[in-house]
Amino acid sequence: MSKLRIAVQKSGRLNEDSMQILKDIGINIDNGKDQLKASAKGFPVEVFYLRNGDIPQYLKDGVVDAAIIGENVLIEKGNDIKVAEKLGFSTCRVCIAVPKTMKYQSLNDLEGKRIATSYPNTVKSYLKEKGINANLHIINGSVEIAPNIGLADAICDIVSSGSTLFKNNLKEVETILKSEAVLAVSPILNADKQAILDKIQFRIQSVLKGRQ
Ligand code: PRP
Ligand code: MG
Repeated sequence: MSKLRIAVQKSGRLNEDSMQILKDIGINIDNGKDQLKASAKGFPVEVFYLRNGDIPQYLKDGVVDAAIIGENVLIEKGNDIKVAEKLGFSTCRVCIAVPKTMKYQSLNDLEGKRIATSYPNTVKSYLKEKGINANLHIINGSVEIAPNIGLADAICDIVSSGSTLFKNNLKEVETILKSEAVLAVSPILNADKQAILDKIQFRIQSVLKGRQ
């Protein structure tokens, strides 16, 4: 019998809440995070612990069937991946921020400037839509440090509590999009797996209702 392969974030902000919602719908995983793959008890599901940024490609290729992932990552990397359910946790926004000392009036102030980001596709399409040309520097983490070390004039990254911006003397000036954790589904799914997914989705909906 086929098992539904669900990817979750290996470590990071989404991991804990992802495991909690799986637990709440009756998917109990007993082997710890050290293993990259775990089978659920009493339900035809396997959980894969993966790096966030890799998950959209795994979904596209059908290597995993579903995933709990931030919408922001899907928008950046996985435009043909379907969102089956919004999960209501890990809310954040993708923002542009500049040094507090900068006299920022509008996006025009970023014309020709350097923007450091881990979300190049998201920023590119936003700036294109607004008719602004800027130079993007792609960094994979600690993006907020970039203006302080002279690497960029602005940054684009996710903001949750705002504490990282604050600590780095930055201010949020544009919100590109809002995001939360979602249940995303591979475009390649056979009928057996779809049936398992339907059950999971039904259970998730009940749990989310109960949380309201
Ligand atoms: C994420 C993100 C922001 C920060 C936002 O970084 O890249 O820097 O969290 O959260 P806050 O608004 O609540 O401060 P993370 O700590 O995951 O580290 P990384 O950027 O080095 O991956
Ligand atoms: Mg960060």
